[in-house]
Amino acid sequence: HTIIHKTITTSTQHIAHQLAREGAEHGTIVIADEQTGGKGRMNRPWHSSKNQGIWTSLILRPEISPHQAPQLTLLTATVLADVIYQETNIRPYIKWPNDILIENKKLSGILTEMQAEQDRIQYIIIGIGMNINQTKGDLPNKLRETATSLKIETGRQINMLTLVQSILEQFEKTYEMYLHHGFTAIKNKWESYGFKIGEKINIKTMNREWEGTFSGIGSDGGLLVKNKHDGKIEKLYSAEIDWFR
Ligand code: BTN
Repeated sequence: HTIIHKTITTSTQHIAHQLAREGAEHGTIVIADEQTGGKGRMNRPWHSSKNQGIWTSLILRPEISPHQAPQLTLLTATVLADVIYQETNIRPYIKWPNDILIENKKLSGILTEMQAEQDRIQYIIIGIGMNINQTKGDLPNKLRETATSLKIETGRQINMLTLVQSILEQFEKTYEMYLHHGFTAIKNKWESYGFKIGEKINIKTMNREWEGTFSGIGSDGGLLVKNKHDGKIEKLYSAEIDWFR
């Protein structure tokens, strides 16, 4: 695979989009030591300080239909959770759809962006941000209560190169498995790391707000919630969730 390394860039997502538009092949990886305009979901900024975390974007050209694209976010989350667990022995949680938490604090996030025409995916960019070697003092003030890093959690400096290698290897294996066996091969793994499965959550969809119990994810990756009032299981693909944390 082609790996493009930048010491500094605005956002690896931007570079990846640009390369993908120019025809970069499936499996191209963009990685930066530092991002000046790192972005998270919902237009939030993503703090990406120099040499203190993994800031990378993968270009994929999967032969799946656009509505399956969110499955790749869930797949990536299981890969990250597996690698964190293997390398540190600390059990991470995946907060649906795409945050990796340790003890309620955010360690890592995934930003999946897709370019599709009609019912065909042109390309997908999977952006991965993971806080690795920041101390508490390195994190911006407003993140100190809600974010963490592997160094904060383990008390030791982490070798980022080894970690990136493990993530890419594990990604490749899991992706192959997904192509051959479909999302069911990912589902159980995802649920084993699932945050608040079996617990009460509050759901806000477009026009209503309701309470239910988080029951896991469906065979297609949708969020399964048991409605508190009628006991029926509803499947959601996007919703704002209040996790009562
Ligand atoms: C989120 O949790 O909101 C997603 C965060 C994604 C951050 C990564 S860092 C590498 C890539 N480049 C970006 O600008 N964003 C993603």
